[in-house]
Amino acid sequence: MQNRHLWIAVGLTVALMALVFVAGWMVGRPAKHEAPVPVPVASTPVDARAVFVPGAGQIEAIRRGVPIDQEGHPPPMAHVENADLKRARAYPMQPPTIPHAIDGYQVDKNSNRCMLCHARANAATFQAPPVSVTHYMDRDDQFLATISPRRYFCNQCHVVQTDAPVLVANQFRDIDSVLSTPPTAKE
Ligand code: HEC
Ligand code: HEC
Repeated sequence: MQNRHLWIAVGLTVALMALVFVAGWMVGRPAKHEAPVPVPVASTPVDARAVFVPGAGQIEAIRRGVPIDQEGHPPPMAHVENADLKRARAYPMQPPTIPHAIDGYQVDKNSNRCMLCHARANAATFQAPPVSVTHYMDRDDQFLATISPRRYFCNQCHVVQTDAPVLVANQFRDIDSVLSTPPTAKE
């Protein structure tokens, strides 16, 4: 007896679900001869890379040349440079920029992905430059056996570079170019 009631309940539930499904399908189905609604193209293409403010040598970062009454496409995302070629440093104590992508390289309390390749012991295996001796020094200039806590979070100082245009013009000259300027031409 008990079982029969159960089966009836289950049967009714299934029938109800089928009914709701069919009803939903009927309602949600598009009408036969309805033309697809064209999506209005509201935004203006933006040349994210080349809109410079005349004279200032800077790019117009916010509207990128799109008139105020129009909406611009979001500019394409910049790509991380991943050419594996070390870049020149602008001055001797500059933290070198990272010449490879670092997506997914975890650096936290338990593990430091960068040190997998850049620790002195592993550097040869991965053909990576080992971190310099400063990375093992504490604030009293004592040398530690492992990476110094001061240098643990690599991305505080080392950053990847992207192919995005520079937003702000920069007149930095390194010491070699200053020294090579003839004295008369100096400001
Ligand atoms: C899979 C191994 C590997 C990992 C992991 C790795 N690197 Fe590298 N790294 C290299 C190699 C190899 C080079 C040498 C240039 C090249 O081949 O890209 C390099 C170059 C560099 C340089 C340039 C050094 C110079 O003298 O110009 C920096 C800075 C750097 N890595 C930082 C990092 C940081 C920060 C991380 C973690 C977010 C990291 N690397 C993770 C292999 C690695
Ligand atoms: C507080 C800033 C700072 C942090 C944090 C830091 N570095 Fe550096 N790094 C530097 C500076 C400055 C230099 C260049 C001068 C020097 O070697 O000390 C450098 C140099 C390097 C070099 C080139 C070494 C050579 O001899 O050419 C590598 C590779 C490097 N760092 C990797 C790392 C990795 C990997 C980490 C994280 C474990 C890290 N750095 C953390 C500042 C930092």
